[in-house]
Amino acid sequence: MTETSMHSHDSIRAVQWRGDHLRLLDQRRLPQEECWFDCHDAAEVTQAIRDLAVRGAPAIGIAAAWGVAMAARQNAPMDAALAMLRAARPTAVNLMWALDRMKKRIAAGADAGALAAEAQAIQDQDLAANRKMGELGAALIAAHAGVLTHCNTGSLATAGYGTALGVIRAGVAAGRIERVYAGETRPWQQGARLTMWELVRDGIPAQLIADSAAAHLMKSGAVQWVIVGADRIAANGDVANKIGTYQLAIAAKYHGVRFMVVAPSSTIDMATGTGEDIEIELRDPAELLHAAGQRTVVEGAHAWNPVFDVTPAELITAIVTERGVIERPGSIAMQAMFGW
Ligand code: MRU
Repeated sequence: MTETSMHSHDSIRAVQWRGDHLRLLDQRRLPQEECWFDCHDAAEVTQAIRDLAVRGAPAIGIAAAWGVAMAARQNAPMDAALAMLRAARPTAVNLMWALDRMKKRIAAGADAGALAAEAQAIQDQDLAANRKMGELGAALIAAHAGVLTHCNTGSLATAGYGTALGVIRAGVAAGRIERVYAGETRPWQQGARLTMWELVRDGIPAQLIADSAAAHLMKSGAVQWVIVGADRIAANGDVANKIGTYQLAIAAKYHGVRFMVVAPSSTIDMATGTGEDIEIELRDPAELLHAAGQRTVVEGAHAWNPVFDVTPAELITAIVTERGVIERPGSIAMQAMFGW
């Protein structure tokens, strides 16, 4: 694949450092409005992560790193800033990974300038990892393929290009992927609102499906791969990702559709043994009881709103990272690639 074709379909950068503050594309407002807002300190970054104004595992790690850099510029108490950012969301390990990386630099005596350079390195390395994964993942896909993705794993969720959506960008650019389907990803609609916005904007033809249409789509033979991202991958290869991923993996197994997880090494958590040990974020039931700010469910009704689930390693065909591809993931292969 040439440089130009690799980099086509790639125009969005949603997390931007502006020298003394962080500018974010507000993901709560897309696709109705492309509206940017500024964070001036670690507390504002924490709030933006908690409210999903910035979301997606790598993107929240990058934003948090910039939050630490701003705290250092303002001579704020660093331990408090690190703790506040860390508590913003529990499941995506990229957040903790980025903060641990900043903490190590603080412990080594880094000043505000060096911490800003570290945050920039985290952002730049994520973009480079995404391009590498795009190449590795697309190479697994045979010509004339159809793919189904879930949630949003693109430029909005990362430094740019994306993880699973990066593989789709690369696979489309290489002419291997002919059909792209995106699940709407209830209740927050990351697929409908964000993935479709990215795909339309970057000129990649795609069709939205209701989440509940996935098994029916697989039965039709239109998709050969399900391609998703991850929020945390345990030492045995179990994958925490957006709620609904697990049921896609079960349906894929039943229909003989292959299942690819695409995530940078910052998503790997070798300190967590299995998916059972991963904390699953529970969000406000109001996200399920309302749509676009309007109550859609009868007053008095209750809801349960876990926003991630765990797909067991045995349902996964391949985990694609920037360090390489793990086929049929399990503890031994994970240890060989990511062990200490
Ligand atoms: O709740 P979100 O929107 O932050 O969840 C995002 C996901 O689950 C993505 O699939 C995952 O972070 C991978 S993004 C490259």
